[in-house]
Amino acid sequence: MTERPIVPLRELSPGQRVGQFEIIRLLNRGGQAHIYLARVPLDGAASLATLEETLRRRMRAAAWQSFVADQRICVLKVPFVDFADHLTDEYEYLRRASDPPPALVRLYAPPIDRARPSREIPGPPAARFADVNGALHQLPYLPLEYSAGGSLKDVLRSGQPLPPGAAVAIARQVGYALSYLHGVLNIVHHDVSPSNIVFRTPLDPTEAREPDCVLIDLAVAYHPARPTQRFRFGKEKYLPPESNTVAGSRLDYRVDTYSLGVVLLEMLLGALPPTTDAVRQNRPRYLPVAPLLPRSSPELCGIIDAMLQPDPARRPDMATAVEWLGGVAEARQPALLAQPGATPEVVNPGTNRVLLIGAAIMASLAALVACGLLALLLIGSTPPDPPATAVVVPRGTVVQPTSTLAPAR
Ligand SMILES: Nc1ncnc2c1ncn2[C@@H]1O[C@H](COP(=O)(O)OP(=O)(O)OP(=O)(O)O)[C@@H](O)[C@H]1O
Ligand SMILES: [Mg+2]
Repeated sequence: MTERPIVPLRELSPGQRVGQFEIIRLLNRGGQAHIYLARVPLDGAASLATLEETLRRRMRAAAWQSFVADQRICVLKVPFVDFADHLTDEYEYLRRASDPPPALVRLYAPPIDRARPSREIPGPPAARFADVNGALHQLPYLPLEYSAGGSLKDVLRSGQPLPPGAAVAIARQVGYALSYLHGVLNIVHHDVSPSNIVFRTPLDPTEAREPDCVLIDLAVAYHPARPTQRFRFGKEKYLPPESNTVAGSRLDYRVDTYSLGVVLLEMLLGALPPTTDAVRQNRPRYLPVAPLLPRSSPELCGIIDAMLQPDPARRPDMATAVEWLGGVAEARQPALLAQPGATPEVVNPGTNRVLLIGAAIMASLAALVACGLLALLLIGSTPPDPPATAVVVPRGTVVQPTSTLAPAR
C-alpha cells in the first residue's frame, strides 16, 4: 500500500472529451480508479440527454446489447495517480488475451463502420487528468466493453440467495474465465469478489434469462513466479489464509480457487457466514459447509469444502473445480437469474434492483436468521470433528484435470 495519502482525481463531467471518447457519466468510484460510462461520438449522434433517456427504458437483453454496440457505448477506467502502473498491466493482460472466454472482460474497440473505419487502439491510451488540487497528470486509461447489468455485489445486496442453478452457472462461467487467466495468460487474478463480477444486461424479472456474467478488474493480477506487491491488494474476506503471508512467495493460482469458493458460498447463502472469517484466521479445524446448505447436494458442498481448504495444496486447481461443478445436480437445474411473472411497470438497471430488493427482503431475513443460527451452532457447539482431509469428491465427475487450461504448476 502506498504510504502517502492517495490524491483523488477530479471527476470528469458529462460531455467532456477523453481522447476519442465522450464522457456520458460517472458509473462507479472503485478503490483504484474512476469508472465512466462513455461513447465514441459519431456524426449526428444522439444528444447525451436522449441517450440517457433511452438507457433508462426497459429493453430486452438483445436490444440492450445492440443499443450499446450501435451507440458505441463503453466504459473508461481512469486510474488514480498511484495506480497507473496497475492499469498499464491490466491493459497489457487484456491485449494479450486473444480468443478470450465469454466471461472475461474485453478491451473496447468500436465496431467497423464505413464512415469512420475502426483503428486498433494503440497501447494503453493516455490523457491528462486533473487531481482535486488542480495538478495535471498524464495517465493511461482503459476503454472496456460495457456490461450494463450491474454487478453481483448489487444482486447480493438484497441478502437473498441466488437460485442454486444460477449460482453454479455463475461460478462455472467465472471459473472458466479464471482457468483461462491461469492457463493461458499465467496470471493470478487475486481479486475475485462480487464487485468484480458484472452482468452483460440488466436484470429484468419479466424476462427469464440465464446469467451472462463477466469477470472484470485485473488491476492486481500478477504472475505467481514474479511476485509483486500487488498481493497486498484484493478484498480481505475473499482471500485465503496464505494471503496473510508477508512475502507473497507462497501464493499461486489457488488463491483464486479459494476466492471463487467464497463467492459461490455467498451466492448460495445470500450472505457470508462467519465461518469464512474463521478459515482466514487459520482456524486449525475446517468446518464443512453442508450444515449451512441443507438444500444443496452433498457433491456441491464437497466442492465448496475443497475450494475453501486453508492449505492451498489441498484445493483443486481452477480447471478441475470447473469440471467438478459441471457434474453437480444444481448444474442441471434452470440457471435463471430472473423469474418470469413479476411485472414491474418500469424497469431499468436502478429501479429494477430496488424492486427485486424490496421483494426479497422478507425471504432474505428468514434465510439470514437461519444461516446465522446454523453458523452459531457450528461455532458454539462441538460438531463432529471433520478431518482436515474431509474433501468430498463429487460422485460421477471426472477427477483428472485433463483440460489444456489446467494451470501450470
Ligand atoms: N466493464 C464494465 N462494465 C460495467 N461496469 C463496470 C465495468 N468495469 C467496472 N465496472 C463497475 O465499476 C466498479 C469498479 O470497477 P473496478 O473493479 O474495475 O475498479 P477498482 O478501482 O479496481 O474497484 P475495486 O477496488 O472496488 O475493486 C465495478 O464493481 C463495476 O460496478
Ligand atoms: Mg474491482
